Amino acid sequence: MRKKILAANWKMNLTQPQVLDWLKVFHDLDWHQPQQELRIYPSSIYLKELVSTGLHVGAQNVFAEQKGAFTGEIAVEQLQSIDVQSVLIGHSERRLIFKEDDALIAQKVRTCTGAGFPFILCCGEAIEQREQGQHLAHVESQLKSALEQFDPAQHSLLTIAYEPIWAIGSGMSARTDQISEMHAFIRDFLEKELGAIAHQIPILYGGSVNSQNASELFSCPSVDGALVGGASLDAQHFHQLWQALSA
Ligand code: PGA
Repeated sequence: MRKKILAANWKMNLTQPQVLDWLKVFHDLDWHQPQQELRIYPSSIYLKELVSTGLHVGAQNVFAEQKGAFTGEIAVEQLQSIDVQSVLIGHSERRLIFKEDDALIAQKVRTCTGAGFPFILCCGEAIEQREQGQHLAHVESQLKSALEQFDPAQHSLLTIAYEPIWAIGSGMSARTDQISEMHAFIRDFLEKELGAIAHQIPILYGGSVNSQNASELFSCPSVDGALVGGASLDAQHFHQLWQALSA
């Protein structure tokens, strides 16, 4: 059985005192659920402090090169050296705002797999692509490019997050039929590319997941968990998603 994952993507939010408040609330709640994995993706300045709490802590970004003159960037080896456990690759905000293209994302995937470093590979279409019926083809091309040289033997490093761009931060999540269609399509793609081990790769949904829609979204058998932005900034709210995932 695939593990379920609930991942908080804090993006560029929370100050140091707010992180401490978040942790205070977090520690007062019951997160015991052996079948589920909780992950926090904070701004990089908080990585070390959060690692010390024993949580699964991941980075929101990593550079494709191994080391050197790349001002402002962080290397996989540096993340591993402070026990960061995973990284997000190809988030739509990185693609759109920071102009990361498929080639760079593929290079990041290769760097992570080369270092044995787990990653969540994000994919998803824009609203225009969906309206033109291009959503499946678009996601396929994103995954094809990113996973071109991916070795099936390293499947345990890979998690996919399907995040339609129009659903991120919009308050309007995708419908369950849209998610089921895309997740089934991604699963088929992975099986074609990687073989039977594709069934062990978690596929998360992301895009306006909140306490109102979580139960419905998590009732989709193809949804192995969620990557959550806005609703993860409040530990109490995030806990409601955790409970919805275990129901
Ligand atoms: P959201 O963000 O939950 O605020 O829509 C999700 C994401 O971008 O990972």
